[in-house]
Amino acid sequence: MTSRIAVFGTGYLGATHAACMAELGHEVLGVDVDPNKLAMLEAGEVPFYEPGLEEVLRRNIAAGRLRFTASYEEAAEFADIHFLGVGTPQKKGEFAADMRFVDSVIETLAPLLTRPTVIFGKSTVPVGTAERLGARARELAPAGQDVEVAWNPEFLREGYAVKDTLHPDRLVLGVDRHRPGRAESVAREVYEQLLNEGIPFVVTDLATSELVKASANAFLATKISFINAISEVCEASGADVTVLADAIGHDARIGRRFLNAGIGFGGGCLPKDIRAFMARAGELGADQALTFLREVDNINMRRRTRMVELAREACGSLLGANVAVLGAAFKPDSDDVRDSPALNVAGQIQLQGAAVNVYDPKAMGNSKALFPTLTYTSSALDACAGADVVLVLTEWTEFRKLLPSDLEAVVRKKVIIDGRNCLEPTTWRDAGWTYRGLGRP
Ligand code: UDX
Repeated sequence: MTSRIAVFGTGYLGATHAACMAELGHEVLGVDVDPNKLAMLEAGEVPFYEPGLEEVLRRNIAAGRLRFTASYEEAAEFADIHFLGVGTPQKKGEFAADMRFVDSVIETLAPLLTRPTVIFGKSTVPVGTAERLGARARELAPAGQDVEVAWNPEFLREGYAVKDTLHPDRLVLGVDRHRPGRAESVAREVYEQLLNEGIPFVVTDLATSELVKASANAFLATKISFINAISEVCEASGADVTVLADAIGHDARIGRRFLNAGIGFGGGCLPKDIRAFMARAGELGADQALTFLREVDNINMRRRTRMVELAREACGSLLGANVAVLGAAFKPDSDDVRDSPALNVAGQIQLQGAAVNVYDPKAMGNSKALFPTLTYTSSALDACAGADVVLVLTEWTEFRKLLPSDLEAVVRKKVIIDGRNCLEPTTWRDAGWTYRGLGRP
C-alpha cells in the first residue's frame, strides 16, 4: 500500500529515511529549515558522502515520489504520517542531549494538524521524550486527541545507511500503551515490504523503545572500550590484542565484530549518546547504574592521548617534527569528522609543535572547515613527503593497500604507526620499517 509521508530533518538520518521510504513506493516529502540542504537534495545531490544514497535519491525524484520543502504547512496538508529525524546533539558544556530541534518540529507542526495523524520519532532521545512530545502535540493540535506520537528508533550506520534502512536487523516500535491507537497498524503498512521479508518487528511501549536505542549504542561503545582496555594490558605485557580479539571472538557469545582495538570510537552518535544516556539516568535517580559508561568514555579518550604519545616517541620530540596523518573521517567510507579520533589526534599533535599533513579520501572539505590550521594534501603520498612518522588513523581500503615501497621514496624516516591495526606488521618490518600498532608487540 502506498502512503503519503513527511520526513522532518534531512540530515543523515532524515535524508536517508525519506529517500528509502520513496524507494519502498511511498509518496514522500522531505522537510528542512536549511535552504541549502533542500536545494542540493532537490537537485539530486546528497550533502554528505554516503555510498548508494545518491542513486536512490535521484531515482525517486525522477519517479515523482520524492520532493523537498521548507514549508510545514505543505507537509501538514500533504501527509498524515510524519517521521521526525532531526538531530539531538550534545549540549555545550554538559552531557545531556540538546532537544531544541526535536521540540521545535513539534511546536511548529502540531498547530497545523487538523486530521488524525501519527508522528513517528526516529531521533535518539532521552527516555520519556516520546510521552512528553505526545502530550504537547495533542495540546497544540486542532485535531487534539487524534494525534499520536510513537517511537521508531533508527539504527543505521554511516556508510551502510541505505542497506540498514531497507534491510535492517530489526524494526522497533514504541507505542503509547495508555492510549491505544493506529500507530502499529500504520507502521505495518509503511514497512510492509520489510515485514514480508521476515525482518523482526519488536512492538513495545514508548520508554522501552527509547531505551533500546540508547542501550544498543551504549553496548557497542562498551564493546569497543573493552577491547581497547585489554589492548592497554596487551601493550604492558607484550601480548597481541588482534590475535586475542580473534580468539575470544570465536565464542559466539562474544562475537568478533566491534572488537577492533585502535584509537577508539567517534562520530556523531556513540560519544554523545552514551553521555546523554548517563545524564538521563542521573535525572531519573539511576545514575549509579551507568557510571561504568564514564569509564567507557575515559578509556576511549585515552586512546587518542596514547596515539599522540606514540607519535612523540617515534619523533623524539614533536617540536619541529613532520607528521603524516592518513585518515581524518571518524571511520572509513564516510566524510563525517564529528568527534573524529583521527582529526582530534592530528589537531593535538599540531598543537604540540609538529607540522601535520593530512590526507583523507572523502573528508577533506569537512576537515578543513573544522580544523583549518592543519595542512591538507591531495594524496596519501603527498601527506607522507618528508615525514618523520606516518600515522594511519582511519582504515580506508586505500591505506590498507599501501605498500612500504609506495612510501619509501618520499618519507624522511621509515616509521609507521597503525592507529587502527589495519596493516600487516610483517610486510612493513620485512621492508625495514619500524611498525607500531596499538596493543601489539
Ligand atoms: C553507530 C551505530 O553503529 C548505529 O547503530 C547507530 O545508529 C549510530 O551510531 P556510526 O556512528 O555510523 O553508527 O558508526 P559505527 O560504525 O558504529 O562506528 C563508530 C565508531 O567506532 C567509529 O569511530 C569506528 O571507527 C569505531 N569502531 C568501530 C572501533 O573503534 N572499533 C570497532 O571494532 C568498531
